[in-house]
Amino acid sequence: MKPIVAANWKMNFTIDESLNLIDEIIKRSPSVEAEIIFFPNYISLQSVKQKLVDTAYMVGSQNVHHDESGAFTGEVSASMLSILDLDYVIIGHSERRQYFNESDDQVNQKIKRALDVNIKPVVCIGETIDERKSGKTTEVLNRQLNKAFEEIDVLSANKIIVAYEPVWAIGTGVSADENQVLEAHALIKQTLVSIFSENIPILYGGSVNASNAFELINLNNVDGFLIGGASLKSESFCQIIENVTVENN
Ligand code: PGA
Repeated sequence: MKPIVAANWKMNFTIDESLNLIDEIIKRSPSVEAEIIFFPNYISLQSVKQKLVDTAYMVGSQNVHHDESGAFTGEVSASMLSILDLDYVIIGHSERRQYFNESDDQVNQKIKRALDVNIKPVVCIGETIDERKSGKTTEVLNRQLNKAFEEIDVLSANKIIVAYEPVWAIGTGVSADENQVLEAHALIKQTLVSIFSENIPILYGGSVNASNAFELINLNNVDGFLIGGASLKSESFCQIIENVTVENN
């Protein structure tokens, strides 16, 4: 399986800026042995998808609403996203859980909406620093996983990606260390196998950069990265791509 390198651009970039960054990335890394996924903001999605149609680059949304349609001012449904022929959607990012009060139950509904229209969910889970300090990491990760995938058909397993993103590592410049990543990914893998009896790719996210990418990608059960800050510049993003693919060169 190719390593997965996903760029979560969060609330950054105009349409033109998104398209320019993609141009720069393609120029720097013209052919890559990784699956690259871009997650632009809603207004850039259509242009980015159009630009990358018929290429190997994938495009996804950073969010989707958990209902099919209705009076939800400012929200976007899965069927609306499906018109753009998107490949992926990020679900349950900790910023959504923290700042928009998204619950495990809503995460579960969002996954169902995405799968209904054939968009693959990238499901984010992760503990806060308080949860880690009080020894609750295992409990939190298991709860988030079990709830997220409640009543999800096991046949959907091959459409799902999970991202382990410890909340305390996101945007802080301090990534989880090797042992913390190894331990969390082993636990997540075990829980996913118990739910789906299948191997589901597990990404790591949280202060991934050009300096730590090589070490992290070579850890057991790390199938790629979900990258925020370091995906906003072509130089750092392409260095990460190089570092994750170097073993295949
Ligand atoms: P970061 O963000 O790489 O800036 O830590 C990761 C994420 O939020 O997915």
